[in-house]
Amino acid sequence: MNLTVIGTGYVGLVSGTCFADSGNDVTCVDIDEQKVAELKEGNVPIYEPGLEPIFARSIREGRLRFTTEMEQAVTEADIVFLCLPTPPGGDGQADLSAVMSVAGQIGPLLEDYTVIVNKSTVPVGTADRVRDAIAEEASEELFDVVSNPEFLREGAAVDDFMKPERVVIGANSERAAELMTTLYEPFVRSGNPIITMDTRSSELTKYAANAMLATKITFMNEIANICERVGANVDNVRRGIGTDSRIGKRFLFAGIGYGGSCFPKDVQAIHHTAGEHGYNFKIVDSVMEVNNWQKTSIVRKMEAHYGTDDFSGMTFGMWGLSFKPETDDIREAPALYIAEELVSRGAKLIAYDPEAIGTFKQATSQDVLEATTFVHNQKEALDDIDALVICTEWNEFRRPTVDNFADEMKQPVIFDGRNLYDLDRARKAGITYISVGRPEVN
Ligand code: UGA
Repeated sequence: MNLTVIGTGYVGLVSGTCFADSGNDVTCVDIDEQKVAELKEGNVPIYEPGLEPIFARSIREGRLRFTTEMEQAVTEADIVFLCLPTPPGGDGQADLSAVMSVAGQIGPLLEDYTVIVNKSTVPVGTADRVRDAIAEEASEELFDVVSNPEFLREGAAVDDFMKPERVVIGANSERAAELMTTLYEPFVRSGNPIITMDTRSSELTKYAANAMLATKITFMNEIANICERVGANVDNVRRGIGTDSRIGKRFLFAGIGYGGSCFPKDVQAIHHTAGEHGYNFKIVDSVMEVNNWQKTSIVRKMEAHYGTDDFSGMTFGMWGLSFKPETDDIREAPALYIAEELVSRGAKLIAYDPEAIGTFKQATSQDVLEATTFVHNQKEALDDIDALVICTEWNEFRRPTVDNFADEMKQPVIFDGRNLYDLDRARKAGITYISVGRPEVN
C-alpha cells in the first residue's frame, strides 16, 4: 500500500519505518527541513533499540522516503497517518493545533478515496473534528477518518509495533475498517486480535489503557508505602497478588513513580475530558496526586536517614536520569525532581546515565547544572560520595555491583528507587540499603 505519515516524531518514525519494513511504500512528511535532511542522510534522531537497522534497510530498498512537501505525498496515498504532537494545553486537555492545522490542508489534496488516520493520542471526538475540517474542502465520499491509537512503549517500540497484543481501529465506515484491517493483518499472524469499533470508543480506549496502567502502578506504590510502615515486603505482596490472573504479573513494580511523555499527560487528559462532560473522575485525580508525591519519596527517606533536610557539604551519586531504561527521554522523569530537591537542600551531585545525560542537561535548572558533575561511566559516579541514589533501572546497574559497593564507596549507602538488589545480598555485602516498600538493610 501507499502510505503517508505526517509527523516524524517518535510515533511517526517508528510507525513509518515498521510499515515500510513490512513491504509498504511509505513517505514521511515533516515541516522541519533540517530533520528531514538528517533523516534522508539515514540518521535516526531518537534512541530506540532495533529501529536503526530496519530504518537503514527500508531506505536502501526504496520503501521509506522523507519530504517536507505534503501535497504529492497526500494525493498519492491510500492511507494518511497523522502522527503529530498533542502536548498538554494550558487547561490540561491535549493541544490539537498541529492536528487541526494539517487536517485543514488535506481536503484540497484528495483525488481518490483516502483513509486519514489519527495515530496521535487525541481527545474523544477528534476524529469527528478532523472529518469536519477535511469535509470543508472535499466531498465526503473521497475519505474517511479513522482512529488507530498507538500502544508502543518507548524502548520496546519496534517489538510492540511488529507484534502488537492487539490493534484497535475506530472507524465509522466498513470500507475504512476493511482497508485498515488489510494493512495490519501481517502484524497479527500469531492470532492477536484486530478490534474494530466506533471512533469515539477507540479514542477513549487509548486514554483508558494508559490511565488503568498508571493506576495499577500507583496502587502498588501505595501498597509499598504501607509495606514500609507495617514491616512487610512489597516483593512478596507483588508475587502473592500477581499470580491471580485477574490481577496479572505485569506493571506491579513499585518505585519512585511513573514518568514519561504519555502516562502523566493522558491521565490528566482523561480527567479533563470527564470533567468537561460533568463527571468527576476521582480515582485518576488521586493517581496524579500520589504519583507526584511518590517521585520525591526517596528524598524524604534520605532526610529521615540523615536526620536533617540540610544536605550542604554532602555529595550524592545518581544512577539513571531517563524516566525508564532503554531511552534518552527525560520527560517527567523522577530524576529531574529528585535532583532539584537534593540540590535545593544544598547537595552536590555526580550523575551518570547511559543515554540521557544530554537530554537531562537541556531540561534541568541552572542550579542543578551548577551543582552536578556528569560522568561517563557508572563507577565514576561512586567516587567520594556520601550515598548513591538509583533513579532508573538500566540493566547495567543490576549486574555485579551489589557485592562490590562496600569496596568502591567511601560510605556504602544506597537509596534505591527501583528495587534493583536482593536484600540478603545487600546485607551480606555490608551496605546500608534503603529501597521501596521493603525492609531497610543497615
Ligand atoms: C506507555 C504505555 O505502556 C504504552 O502502551 C503507550 O503506548 C505509551 O505509554 C503511549 O501512550 O505512547 P511508555 O510511557 O513508553 O509507554 O512507558 P512504560 O514502559 O509504560 O512505563 C511508564 C512509566 O511507568 C515509567 O516511568 C516506568 O518506570 C513506570 N512503571 C512501569 C513503574 O513504575 N512500574 C511498573 O511496574 C511499570
